[in-house]
Amino acid sequence: MIRFATTNEGKLHEAREYLDEAVRQLDFDYPERQADDLATVAAHGARAAYRHAGEPVIVDDSGLTIETFDGFPGPYSSYVEDTLGIERVWHLAEREADRAGAFRCVVAYCDGGEFAATPEPVDRERRGQDIAAAERASATTDEQVQEGPLPVKLFEGVVPGTIVAPRGDGGFGFDPIFEYDGTTFAEMETDEKNAISHRGRALAKFAEWYAEAER
Ligand code: IMP
Repeated sequence: MIRFATTNEGKLHEAREYLDEAVRQLDFDYPERQADDLATVAAHGARAAYRHAGEPVIVDDSGLTIETFDGFPGPYSSYVEDTLGIERVWHLAEREADRAGAFRCVVAYCDGGEFAATPEPVDRERRGQDIAAAERASATTDEQVQEGPLPVKLFEGVVPGTIVAPRGDGGFGFDPIFEYDGTTFAEMETDEKNAISHRGRALAKFAEWYAEAER
């Protein structure tokens, strides 16, 4: 049994498509750590959720990245959506020749065990060490410092696309300005979007690894 630490039931339903009854909701609003990449935020959340629940947990963190802005807004997507708004993000991108973007999601798994943690599912060689160093720096209790960071396994899902002028009424967040294969996410039906979504891709990778690890 895995607990998905999220207050969003839509995410739980999406996770069930990949993990069936193996996943249950953990209604735990973990304190979000600020960091410039999604993996660090998700890993920190997974450790906090595991410490809270004492059971295997997954946590996800997602966002929009715009290549020409070095990945902005990334982990700050929700803040940028609430402050600048998506229309103004489009106007920033509009002036650029390169409007490539991507939705990214990192699913972090923690069960307190010593499995071969991180980095290979996320495509950055030093990811595990970087997270370990960041976690050591942010440990707030002696116990955490002595224990060191709990191993976390990371799974990244990416959907590449293009930033465009807003179109469509569906979805949420940056969906109207994100075009995939000629259609914005806001112009798609929910099922259509879920079938290609960054979260779905990360969850599918996790489900595959988890099924293997269970054997
Ligand atoms: P969360 O980590 O899933 O809560 O997403 C953080 C923020 O990223 C959201 O508030 C949105 O601004 C943005 N975001 C993440 N996924 C999507 C998506 O599928 N469509 C549109 N915006 C998204």
